[in-house]
Amino acid sequence: METKEVQKAVIPVAGFGTRLLPATKSVSKELLPVVDIPAIQVIVEECIESGIEEIIFITGRGKGSIEDHFDYDYELEKLLEERGKYDKLEKVRKISSMIRTVAVRQKKPLGLGHAVYCARDVVGDEPFMVLLPDDIITADPPCTKQMLEIYEKYGQGVVTVMEVPEEDVSSYGIVGGESWAPELYRVRTLVEKPDPDIAPTNLAVIGRYLLPPVIFDYLEDATPDDSGEIQLTDALARLARERALVGYEFEGMRHDIGDKLGFLTANIAHALERHDLGPELRDYLRAKLDEDVL
Ligand code: G1P
Repeated sequence: METKEVQKAVIPVAGFGTRLLPATKSVSKELLPVVDIPAIQVIVEECIESGIEEIIFITGRGKGSIEDHFDYDYELEKLLEERGKYDKLEKVRKISSMIRTVAVRQKKPLGLGHAVYCARDVVGDEPFMVLLPDDIITADPPCTKQMLEIYEKYGQGVVTVMEVPEEDVSSYGIVGGESWAPELYRVRTLVEKPDPDIAPTNLAVIGRYLLPPVIFDYLEDATPDDSGEIQLTDALARLARERALVGYEFEGMRHDIGDKLGFLTANIAHALERHDLGPELRDYLRAKLDEDVL
């Protein structure tokens, strides 16, 4: 099937991060580190490794430091150069030359659907990715790359899904539909944060979406929910109804870093994979666990 290339990724970064207060009172949650890399950089690196060429940040008040992180810092670079800290200089330079970034301001907190809609003019008439920065996914190949492969094969919108315990369905968008190949579902319905007794399944939508541009028309028509927010889920439900939507059970480990435990597990998982930290951290964790057993 002939498909248009996916070159752009939208990353909404206007959220408050209330679950991690007080850490997020004056620091954007997206800049909290996964080991020594800000979470947002981990997400951007996933995009780059998957071949994405442009990132569109949907920002809000107080989020300017995210744009700064991907910009040149002349003074810092000069200082590192003067002090001969070339390895650090290289790391800092790498970030600013990583990828083209654009920032669009979401002026009112009107929900995820509205945040995505704000990217309409920059995305134009092309399919695009949406990555929610709370969801850090450790995977090889990266989750976005896995999704691009599904898209190239079937030419339809794709959402990542994952089974969650029944008591957690009310925290997610939940899909209904049927499996038609290993790891693949034909999505028929989507419900945002349903009560467990009306949830169609326990398959939750995770924060990676590959969307056709028609989604902007659906978002434009969408009615706000009871709290005045435009839900992306409602536009996805229409996409599933009127066209097609694939649910993809991705390979990899997902950490919800907007949550304290997920933040910790993301850090541990990333540190364990690193040559400079993994072996010592493994020894530390083993010794700690042994102490608990004794
Ligand atoms: C958002 C979406 C929800 C999705 C979730 C994934 O919810 O609205 O459908 O399941 O992300 O993390 P949020 O976590 O922003 O409330």
